[in-house]
Amino acid sequence: MNKKISDFIKKKNKTKLVTLTAYSKNIASVLDSYCDLILVGDSLGSVLYNYKSTREVTLNTMIEHSKSVRMGIKKSLMIVDMPHNTYRNPKEALKNAKLIMKKTKCDGVKLEGGKKIINTIKTLVKNNIPVMGHIGVLPQSDKTFKFKGKKQSEKENIMKDAKLVEEAGSFCMVLECVQTSLAKQVTKSVSVPTIGIGASNNCDGQILVFDDLIGLNPIKFRFVKKYANIKTEISKAVSKYASEVKTRKFPSKKYSFN
Ligand code: KIV
Repeated sequence: MNKKISDFIKKKNKTKLVTLTAYSKNIASVLDSYCDLILVGDSLGSVLYNYKSTREVTLNTMIEHSKSVRMGIKKSLMIVDMPHNTYRNPKEALKNAKLIMKKTKCDGVKLEGGKKIINTIKTLVKNNIPVMGHIGVLPQSDKTFKFKGKKQSEKENIMKDAKLVEEAGSFCMVLECVQTSLAKQVTKSVSVPTIGIGASNNCDGQILVFDDLIGLNPIKFRFVKKYANIKTEISKAVSKYASEVKTRKFPSKKYSFN
């Protein structure tokens, strides 16, 4: 196992892990100082491309955004989401994960699912491809985004999935929209870090979609805290620019060649 990955795992029970998504170089370079891990998430499908679901995201789109993100990261782990229909069986997953690793120079890939993809996770790990698991709500396959863990059957399935994903060799796992006490139980029962999104502060770390955190993406989910309202800042700057262009204040001599 590479050292960056083992250092990440060792932080479990010592310090909370800070993780975020990034889709491009300039943003990644700002996040890098504060994050343990940066995910090129397939959430870019809805956030940037207005797709109805992440199912429309292609392998090529993920690779191109990841190449950009790579240029902005110096220290954080960089993980790339494998898009829908690129890991339908272990053979397909291995071929596509190898391509992602080679083209983007990332540190590993993320796959959504539990029991159904255990052999796939095992195959990737056996081939030295670090895997971040993702259980709970699965945006690539779930029809609704309702939080999970209230029903006993959901609790049992998520606990089973967490153990299976751990045993298959994943170095950490995302818990998406999981009930608070279940997140605590999962986090206690696995030896690798759990990274929560809508899964309470009982997880070993947290992840948010960066565009949500800065108030650029107009969504309202209970689990998203907006730490800034960047839209207002952008508006102010663009409005000033527009006014200066119209009044010929910009470009002044300072910004022109004599
Ligand atoms: O696609 C994504 O950004 C994700 C995170 C929100 C966990 O999967």
